Amino acid sequence: MTNTYSIHEHDVVIIGAGGAGLRAAIEASQNGVTVALICKSMLGKAHTVMAEGGAAAALANKDPRDNWQTHFRDTMKGGKYLNDWRMAKIHAQQAPDRIRELETWGAIFDRTPKGLTSQRNFGGHTYPRLAHIGDATGLELIRTLQEKGVHMGMDVFMEYTVRHLFTTDGHIAGCFAYNRNDGSMHVFKAKTVVMATGGATRCWAVCSGSWEYTGEGYALAYWAGAEMGDMEFIQFHPTGMIWPPSVKGILVTEGVRGEGGMLRNSEGERFMFNYVPEMYEDEFADTEEEALQWVDEVISGKLASKRRPPELLTRDVVAKAINSERDAGRASEHGGAYLDISWRSPEDVKKKLPGMYHQFKELAAVDITKQPMEVGPTAHYVMGGIKVHPETQETRIKGLYAAGEAATGLHGANRLGGNSLSDLIVFGKIAGENAALQSKEMEIFREIDDHEIMMVMADTLEPLNRKGGENPAKIVEDLREMMQEKVGIIRTRKLLQEALLDLDQLEIRASKASPGGSLIYNPGWHQALELNAMIDVSRMCTLAALHREESRGGHTRDDFPTPDYKYWGKINSVISKHKDGSMFIEHRKYPIIDSELKALLDVEDLHEEE
Ligand code: FUM
Repeated sequence: MTNTYSIHEHDVVIIGAGGAGLRAAIEASQNGVTVALICKSMLGKAHTVMAEGGAAAALANKDPRDNWQTHFRDTMKGGKYLNDWRMAKIHAQQAPDRIRELETWGAIFDRTPKGLTSQRNFGGHTYPRLAHIGDATGLELIRTLQEKGVHMGMDVFMEYTVRHLFTTDGHIAGCFAYNRNDGSMHVFKAKTVVMATGGATRCWAVCSGSWEYTGEGYALAYWAGAEMGDMEFIQFHPTGMIWPPSVKGILVTEGVRGEGGMLRNSEGERFMFNYVPEMYEDEFADTEEEALQWVDEVISGKLASKRRPPELLTRDVVAKAINSERDAGRASEHGGAYLDISWRSPEDVKKKLPGMYHQFKELAAVDITKQPMEVGPTAHYVMGGIKVHPETQETRIKGLYAAGEAATGLHGANRLGGNSLSDLIVFGKIAGENAALQSKEMEIFREIDDHEIMMVMADTLEPLNRKGGENPAKIVEDLREMMQEKVGIIRTRKLLQEALLDLDQLEIRASKASPGGSLIYNPGWHQALELNAMIDVSRMCTLAALHREESRGGHTRDDFPTPDYKYWGKINSVISKHKDGSMFIEHRKYPIIDSELKALLDVEDLHEEE
């Protein structure tokens, strides 16, 4: 086999080419530094496209009552107040400019009758706030950023998997990657590195992400010494396809509910009226009549009442409601719920939701202009991630930055739909700018230890030397099934303890798995390598979930079914690698919120007296 490698030198290396990576790369290039953009897949194929329904920004085009303050409040409330309020403020304030900037770069958003960027309703947002392009907003965002980016002169490395981050004297020095097609080995020297690697939802059997989403970004940062925050909070999007089995998990955009889609159980009941949490009682309709009136107001372009239909509650609430209906024996034919938009005109459905129309027609033989869809929860997003400074996006490793789903803080215990696309462009820009500025202050690249390079190469090649072990694909499948069952929507101490033991067993199996074959086009080898990251990321999530003895947002414990306002409601989980190599968990608070910002929140939600 090989013991040679190529060396590349760039001021800034960006790992991941979804929305955050591309936006960071554009900003760094604009600052006059050399940039490498490394992606595991083809450029343009990123989970960003799975944010279909829109990007949240208080443009106030559809409703002049909207402003950044209300967006800030909605984000904090949706996150159950575990958000880093400093990031929530920056995000709400800067999102409108980032959307306008995308338009100047050629993004073609849907328009209002007056020609402004159109905005639609989404769960947890008080006003119509999601700038959108039909139901393909993430795709258009990627197309726009990619077109802008490739003209900036950055070097793009497609189909490379990064295996290791190098640090020298506590400062990032670069990374090691291999080419997935030919198995060639590469050392990227860098003055600064941005992690824009997205999330890890492929660790669950039913998910909206594609094969790339195996969590290497989290694992690389953790192994290098970064801190990981809030890894117990996993977003199960309430509406994934559930039938036929081959398409289980594929996203059904929240835009369907934003356009008036209604959820019903097997008895035809619009069950979400029974699940409105106390903190949202004033904001959601009590009766079908009231909900229908809101929809009429929205469709006719009037300023709608604030009391929205309960299908527009936050994702954590809707996903759990669908789960509860199933447990109560009121599931749809294949174990989910019915989502119906067929009461709107076929023209409207096809215009507003063209992707959904074709998706159901082609994949499930369902005409959504005439029939309800069948939907159920699908793992969609990780609220946790790499801990960053809220203003610079730098991690605790000097020169290492993170943005987008790879980072944590903005979304607290539950992300509002649409807040990820705006997160990517707001914090991608900030990370790219700071990474570029810091790299400009450094005259030379830091040395990388040859021995360390040899160790990583040997480790990368090692699975190919194994003989007679299991197929890595089987271990990946077992891991995903186990996480779905034991660290899914509903958790208990017993299940979580079992999951930790299962992960130990999976790790032993993974260390012996033999992919066979060679360096060339060898997916089995790639999976054998991905397993280490998947196991450690699953472990982080399980450990944090075991410690959090309450239910909040994307973390529900059957044995602790309510929120604990006194202790857990004020505290975030932090995981790091202990000196002895073990996974270490502690709990910390963000600084006390500014009084002016606090005045924007619903104070009774904070339960300060408890
Ligand atoms: O449902 C959706 O269109 C997803 C949007 C998001 O995750 O932000």
